[in-house]
Amino acid sequence: MATVFVSGTLPGDGVAALRASHRVVQAEDGIRSAAFADCRADVEAVVALLTDRIDAAFLDASPRLRVVANVAVGVDNVDLPACRARGVIVTNTPDVLTEATADLAFGLLLAAARRIAEGDRLVRAGAFTGWTPTFMLGTRVHGATLGIVGMGRIGSAVARRARGFSMPVLYTQRSRLDATLAEGATYVELEELVTRADFVSIHCPLTPATTHLFDEGRLARMKPGSVLINTARGPIVDEAALGRALEHGPLAAAGLDVFEHEPVIDPSLLTRPNAVLAPHIGSADRPTRQAMASRAIANVLEVLAGRPPVSPIG
Ligand code: DGY
Repeated sequence: MATVFVSGTLPGDGVAALRASHRVVQAEDGIRSAAFADCRADVEAVVALLTDRIDAAFLDASPRLRVVANVAVGVDNVDLPACRARGVIVTNTPDVLTEATADLAFGLLLAAARRIAEGDRLVRAGAFTGWTPTFMLGTRVHGATLGIVGMGRIGSAVARRARGFSMPVLYTQRSRLDATLAEGATYVELEELVTRADFVSIHCPLTPATTHLFDEGRLARMKPGSVLINTARGPIVDEAALGRALEHGPLAAAGLDVFEHEPVIDPSLLTRPNAVLAPHIGSADRPTRQAMASRAIANVLEVLAGRPPVSPIG
């Protein structure tokens, strides 16, 4: 029987399956908790959240650790080389959240373009005084060009949704897809994508190379009147620069589910009516979150049983 630490509360009954064969310690405030400090000398597996920073110091102080099972597809909270150097297996939860995250990305796209959240605030404030031909005009979605940055599982799922809106799709990423996988989307370099796309949706992982990929300069080169959507990771976009691009152009709007310093949000975004802000809920539909928890727990059970995990990293 191994000691398994579970960060936070997970949906579904996966933790019960863990308890059937292992000692489980669970704490709401994750690896920063006193509960973790008390058991860390024995912990062989951690079911981690993206808010848990798994770095070299953490690993050095967790001598029996064998597996970190992240309840997320992104693993930027985990120092992968440090884990590799210590023989600690890292797993994530791909596939099960692809469609839910693509749904949210498209929802943000529609809300930002057609000013849905802004309109909702206006109605609730009692400021809807009746229909006029010039009231709350927004950006046209159908037929507009969508640019996808990172055409992996989620980017491709967003591109599929765009087809229902007759949107031509451009994409960029490190390697060009073959025609079957591209499903009609056209590969372009990032610089061309940002100057041509009416909507840009970010789906690349956060790495040193993608940190501030959308900096002041790149935001300034985006197509006038375009809309930026980010459901990937906040630090890919320079948030203060985005606030300026939303105030002075060229951007018409942005739809954001992720932020540079979560849960803190740059004040310039909080006051922009043309920024639709969601609290990192891309994967937050009930079946998806349950599937993510089950996948993370399955990964732990496999490693503790001496078998390869379902979804290892690297
Ligand atoms: C992830 O999985 O990386 C998301 O940010 C949370 O669903």
